[in-house]
Order: sequence, then structure tokens, then C-alpha cells
Amino acid sequence: MTNQRIFIFDTTLRDGEQVPGCKLNTEQKVEVARELERLGVDVIEGGFPVSSPGDFKSVREISLAVSNPIICGLSRAVENDIKVAADALKYARHPRIHTGIGTSDIHIKYKLRTTREKIIERAIAAVKYAKSFVEDVEFYAEDAGRTDNEFLAKVLEAAILAGATVLNIPDTTGYCLPQEYGDKIKYLKENVKGIHKAILSTHCHNDLGLATANSIAGIQYGATQIECTINGIGERAGNTSLEEVVMIMRQQESLNFETNINTKLLNHVSRLVSEKMSVPVQPNKAIVGANAFAHSSGIHQDGVIKKRETYEIINPADVGVDNSAIILTARSGRAALAYKSKQVGFDLTKDELDIIYQDFLVLADQKKEVNEMDLTKLLETNLVQGLRA
Ligand code: KIV
Ligand code: ZN
Repeated sequence: MTNQRIFIFDTTLRDGEQVPGCKLNTEQKVEVARELERLGVDVIEGGFPVSSPGDFKSVREISLAVSNPIICGLSRAVENDIKVAADALKYARHPRIHTGIGTSDIHIKYKLRTTREKIIERAIAAVKYAKSFVEDVEFYAEDAGRTDNEFLAKVLEAAILAGATVLNIPDTTGYCLPQEYGDKIKYLKENVKGIHKAILSTHCHNDLGLATANSIAGIQYGATQIECTINGIGERAGNTSLEEVVMIMRQQESLNFETNINTKLLNHVSRLVSEKMSVPVQPNKAIVGANAFAHSSGIHQDGVIKKRETYEIINPADVGVDNSAIILTARSGRAALAYKSKQVGFDLTKDELDIIYQDFLVLADQKKEVNEMDLTKLLETNLVQGLRA
């Protein structure tokens, strides 16, 4: 069975950048965009051009600096937004305008203060207008996660007829359960006329911690594009994390999906984004967290030293991390102590290990972590001056 290719739409520079306090300037955005291109993403959403002169400039500069991925600019279903987005994308080799409108009853009634009929009219007008500038137009149905499926199907059908090439189904509020989101995609595949003409895209937020699970459910039921961000950054609890969905597809071969991502660059790009945006990565973050390949309990360390795969399902080298880390703590056993001692230049005999281990535990109880300097000092004190004297 051949794998289904999944397109990776990176929105780090648009939805990701909506994190309070982590706005990037044009130069920084271009630097990140260049690394996203090297990473192999299919689409870079560079910004929301009408929102500020800075965002306009960033989308324009990214369009000039990056040539392989599609460059996308966001707009509301408003003529001026679309016109400005088209202008910002003027120099892009592969431009895409991303336009759309809220479709859930709560958005229609309270935010847009309009009717379902008018939403369909505005969707059609926006897509048609965007089409007058570029061939590739993505339509988003904001809050699709909470939109009635029958109405959503009608809106999407109209967007396809108007010329949309990609249909984005955002779970804007991160509300859906994975099965519910998967069923929504399935329903759309089965009920929207002309759906085969467009790419169906997931866009999941992480308010309940389900963004990754929902995106995977989406592709299992027929979506072929995932919208995501590096480190999962984004509004409120963030977006789907790029590194997570990519590694799920890579590690779970039975899913039969593939992407164009060079996974060996994941750690590098994660650090770059974290540093540029001044948003630290939580240590236990899957794939790119500092502890993702660190082992501190004796039982795990013993296993990993004997065979890495006993406690690791990913080879750290595959995501650009040099090595698994053995962290010496009061939970470490003799195997880890011997292993780390050898790394700092002391090949201990069994008797030496037995003696040193007792002193090591006393030290480890005092300190959270025994680092290489502490260990070297402990070994020198005991062996060079003591045991071996
Ligand atoms: O979450 C969302 O609905 C969005 C759209 C603007 C695509 O980010
Ligand atoms: Zn979003």
C-alpha cells in the first residue's frame, strides 16, 4: 500500500505569532521562514497582511526570500483584506490567499450579527474576489468545530463552486473530541459535492490538549493537509504541534502517511523559534523538550544503557538530538554511575563502584542532579586520593 502524502501547512508566523509578547520583526520572520523551507514544509503562512504594515512587509519579504513552499497570507472575508493580502503576495512564486468567515451559530449570531444565508453569500464573494488575484485560494470556516455539519457542508460546497482549492476546517476553540472531529471530516468527504476537487485541511487548537489527536483523527478520515506550528505555539493554549504530528506519521508506519519534512532539523528549528519568540519549550514537551530523551530513574537508565529502544521509541538522531541523556540523581543505580564515570574518564572496577556508589547517593540526596563536574570531583576524591592511594 502506498503512503498518503500529507501536506504540512506551517502557521508559526501567523497563528503562532498571536502569542502575547512574541511578535517578530520582518528580519526575524524571514530567518524563520528560510529555516521552515529547509525543514521541508509545504506551506508557510507568513502573516495577516492587512493587520499592520509590519505584517504586510513580512509577507512580502518572505515571498521574495523563499521559493519552494507556497506562501500564504490570511484575510477576513473582506474585500480590502483580500486586496492587501494579494498585494503582499505579489512576488511569491506560489501565492495562496487564505480567506474565510465564522460559520458556527455563536459566531454568526454574536460576533458577525448576521444570518446563515448572508454567511454563504460572503463566503462566495470572498473566494471569487481572491480568485481574481491568485489561482490558489484556501477557504476557512472559522469555528467549524462547533458548526452544525449540514450547514458547514453547504458553506463548503458554495466555496468550492466559487473556486476554493483548499478547505480549512478549524477547531478554533479546541472543543472537539478526536472521534467527533474525525467524524466531521468524514461527513464532509461524504456530503459535500465536489469535495474531491479541493484539499481538506485540519486546523486544531489545543484548549483541551487535543490538537494533535484531533489533527491525526482528521487525516485518518480523509484530510490531507495539517495546519500546525513549531512547538505548538499559538493563541491561548496553542495550535497543533508540527513536530508531534510529523513524528506520529513517521513512527506509526501502519498509518501509511508521509510528509516532506526533514525530521533531523526539528530540534534546530524548535530552538530557533523558541529563542526568537522568547517562548521557552516546556521540558517535558514531546519530541523537542529538554527531557524528551533524558532518563533519570535507575530502572530506565539500566535499560537504555543496555539497549536504547527499551525506553525510547524515537532515535534522538532522527530529530537532530545528539544523544539520549543519562541524568544522575538519587534514583540512579550502579549501571548509570559506571556508565557516566566511564564518560568522564574513569573505568571503575566492581569494588570501586560499590564503594563510590554509597558516597554518590549521599551527594545525590543533597543535590537535585549530579553533573559531570560533581562526578569528576567525587571520583577524584575517592579514587585518586583515596581508594587507589
Ligand atoms: O483558528 C482559526 O479559526 C484560525 C482561522 C483564522 C484560520 O486561525
Ligand atoms: Zn487558528
